[in-house]
Amino acid sequence: MAERGRLSRRGFLAAGGAAALGVAAPALWVASRPGGLPDGPPLPEPPVLPLPMGADGWLRGDLTAAPSGDGMAYNGSAPGPLVRLREGDKVRLTFHNRLEVSSSLHLHGLPLAPAVDAPLSHVDPGGSRTQEFVVPPGAAGTHWYHPHAHGDVERQLLAGLAGAVVVTGPDEPAGMDDRLLMLTRTPQGTAVNGAIRPVVAPKAGRLRLRLLNATAGDHLLLGVLRDGARAPMHLIATDGGLIERPVELTEVLLAPGERAEVLVDATTPGRAVLTALPHSAYGPGGPTTPEVPLAAVDVPVGSAPVPLPTTLRPVPEPDLTGAPHRRLVLGGAADGSFSIDERPFDHHRVDIRARVGTTEVWEVVNAHSADHPFHLHTYPVQVLARDGVPEPFRAWRDTVNVPAGAAVTLAVPLHGATGRTVYHCHIAAHEDLGMMGVLEVSA
Ligand code: C2O
Ligand code: CU
Ligand code: CU
Repeated sequence: MAERGRLSRRGFLAAGGAAALGVAAPALWVASRPGGLPDGPPLPEPPVLPLPMGADGWLRGDLTAAPSGDGMAYNGSAPGPLVRLREGDKVRLTFHNRLEVSSSLHLHGLPLAPAVDAPLSHVDPGGSRTQEFVVPPGAAGTHWYHPHAHGDVERQLLAGLAGAVVVTGPDEPAGMDDRLLMLTRTPQGTAVNGAIRPVVAPKAGRLRLRLLNATAGDHLLLGVLRDGARAPMHLIATDGGLIERPVELTEVLLAPGERAEVLVDATTPGRAVLTALPHSAYGPGGPTTPEVPLAAVDVPVGSAPVPLPTTLRPVPEPDLTGAPHRRLVLGGAADGSFSIDERPFDHHRVDIRARVGTTEVWEVVNAHSADHPFHLHTYPVQVLARDGVPEPFRAWRDTVNVPAGAAVTLAVPLHGATGRTVYHCHIAAHEDLGMMGVLEVSA
């Protein structure tokens, strides 16, 4: 894996700001010139974290965050090692902090009890912390891990601290070439598994692409282009794993922190290009990002077709009878700070108190001029409607983009463990600057 250069916060804001405003840096001008780009290496695969099973049946693993080159890495690798798990696995994962600053290890997307996830506790330099859990049924999906040291998350992410978690379940679709594509921002642009413009050589007639937006704050509108035109993809999974049946689409917006899995046909020989399409995260008519090729797929001659699965996994409809309703307002102030319900984050304050076993309806309103991806720990949610438009299919999610000026209505089943956890914007800079709140779920 490539080593990640350290970016100062000021440097990143300048780079991110320029890209966000559509003022492409020189490298991006080159990147947007069709056909004139050198290929990167074959798609790298991250090293897999060793998780040996002890005599007691528990898997044991260690992730150590430490300085690496100009940046930071988990176990010397940026992106960090891939954590491969199965539903039902018993896991003891120990995080060791060998950085000079506080950090922590958050398993984003695994619905772990607040006491295990502990998003508000930091590990001091030299310290360690073990998370012990059984991977819950239904947790299969593409997830990830990253630091949750409030105030320093953006810097640590950009320095290289992020890795993927792939959990498999009993009902995985068969016969596909299953690939993880973890997207991060590097000084050279958006990397895929640490490489710029890598090339995928499909090993089956259909690719399952596990797309993971692990950037610190870049919205990525992804599509697959063939001869410049959009090829169809089939969405099979969101943050919370498989949906009920494949949904055909030609683009998928991945907000920071969000995941999606798409199937791409790999029987027509030739090149397909996974592309970041022009997109505005500042509302209609807002400044757009340039089109950037992210990875090439070179389909060989003679791949046998792999049929599209017809059904995937049931996603139950939440029972909303008597559900309490709440309204949460995401806001930004002129001084550059961010808030939820006009209050910047305070870890001593509980913002929402709720009862375990209930399902709530949250209307998340974006009163600001930029998109904010809303993320809730521990309790997977379903989108009910976006700006009043009913969601066309049911899906479990943990990160949902709330466009500038828009509102998203969520079903929030608070089932399982009690405790104190957080919800926040997954643009790391916004979270660091206060766009986070505390949820306490009690018996
Ligand atoms: Cu991926 Cu609270 O974070
Ligand atoms: Cu999370
Ligand atoms: Cu935000």
